[in-house]
Amino acid sequence: MTTPTSTNVDLTSKIPNNVGLSDDPKLQRALERWLPNYLEWWNDMGPTDFADKPVYLRTAISVDRGGWANYAHVKMPDYRWGIFLTPNEQEATIKCGDDAGAPAWNDVPGEHRNALRRIIVTQADTEPASVEQQRLLGHTAPSLYDLRNLFQVNVEEGRHLWAMVYLLHKYFGRDGRDEAEELLNRRSGDEDKPRILGAFNQPCDHWLSFFAFTMFTDRDGKYQLAALAESGFDPLARTTQFMLTEEAHHLFVGETGLGRIIKRTAQLEREDPNGDVRNQGGIDFDLIQRTINYWFTYSLDLFGGEISSNASNFFASGLKGRFREDRYEDHKALTGTYNLPVVEKDKLLEKEVPLRNAMNEILRDQYIKDCERALKRWNKHIAEEGSSTVLTLPSRRFHRHQGIYADHHFNPDGELISEDEWESNKSKWVLTPADNDYLVSIMKPCYEPGKFANWIAPPSKGLDGKELDFEYVKLHD
Ligand SMILES: [Fe+2]
Ligand SMILES: [Fe+2]
Repeated sequence: MTTPTSTNVDLTSKIPNNVGLSDDPKLQRALERWLPNYLEWWNDMGPTDFADKPVYLRTAISVDRGGWANYAHVKMPDYRWGIFLTPNEQEATIKCGDDAGAPAWNDVPGEHRNALRRIIVTQADTEPASVEQQRLLGHTAPSLYDLRNLFQVNVEEGRHLWAMVYLLHKYFGRDGRDEAEELLNRRSGDEDKPRILGAFNQPCDHWLSFFAFTMFTDRDGKYQLAALAESGFDPLARTTQFMLTEEAHHLFVGETGLGRIIKRTAQLEREDPNGDVRNQGGIDFDLIQRTINYWFTYSLDLFGGEISSNASNFFASGLKGRFREDRYEDHKALTGTYNLPVVEKDKLLEKEVPLRNAMNEILRDQYIKDCERALKRWNKHIAEEGSSTVLTLPSRRFHRHQGIYADHHFNPDGELISEDEWESNKSKWVLTPADNDYLVSIMKPCYEPGKFANWIAPPSKGLDGKELDFEYVKLHD
């Protein structure tokens, strides 16, 4: 049986949904039991101290085009976290692998149960992790506009957790319920119970990291979700399709946030006779470059191994496709190879890999291309402000903690270097504790409507057609 979905959301039940939850009382009860645990986690680990402030948030009230973004001032704990799947318009098929073209699964096939559970839990774990990483940032927001964007991202990451927990509860029985509990027990950066993936245990202490995180790490999320939107397990495909609509805003926040800092930096450089940005409380380009290097490379790790039998199996069995699988002609990928440089005897040598084993690398390629597009745009804005600075993306081999390059050292150009060379240069290349201290020191909250901190330019326009001086968060009621 296919999961019933409609374009209308049932807003009357405790958990808003378009999956016919009221027709499945057992599942509904299980999720209603998880709800207070979720709220407890939100209160403990979600944004601190703003629970009683109305925030101009969008909430899904329908999954129709346009209808899912309904704006109103809402206190975050009252946000209606719900379960929404993109409705199925036609009979879905398996998009890739050995059975490409066969009908998609509406239930979990026994032979893929473990792999699917692992895929879903790994994705799910990133959602609450990022909320935990960002929980203190409200205290240093550069404007009410940015404060609102932070909270929008936070509540939607919470909803993404709901989306994944629904799948675990509905399709994975006891195991799924246990995993759903564990998702609320792990903590970002915790020594004993860390989040599953590296980037989601890194501190995000200030807004430069927040924007770099939403630019680079949420963008990994986009590509993972897009690959899962091609899944032969239809409920997963339709859940992730809807998540992608929300994810687009997170990427907008990151890309425009960094863009606005970059623009402001070029202006501050021009305004000082010595081009000194820091003596005006700004963020110099070298520091921005180190931040890009740091978060871009931690995000590259999230794609998994360059040569991966897991990736091959996921693709072969139709669990995870490529980015926009429909753009490819050959959905089996049984022939063909992918060339990539590997380290052998202290040298980089090209190696030929069967296409299926390179699926992680193929997805990473699409991601890098997307990041390069943003860099190009930022550099254009820098030039328009009269600065000659050019920001770059480091090589995909640089500063890696996962995959075939992790055991070696590379410079930002991707050349093999010695450990000594790495050690003596790393503070020039990636974000340092001193950088973080400086950034924390300049980030003072700017809560007056229409005002922006000195280290960031205002956005070109407000949200949802509102002016820039709109009260995006009501701090004084
Ligand atoms: Fe998310
Ligand atoms: Fe996100």
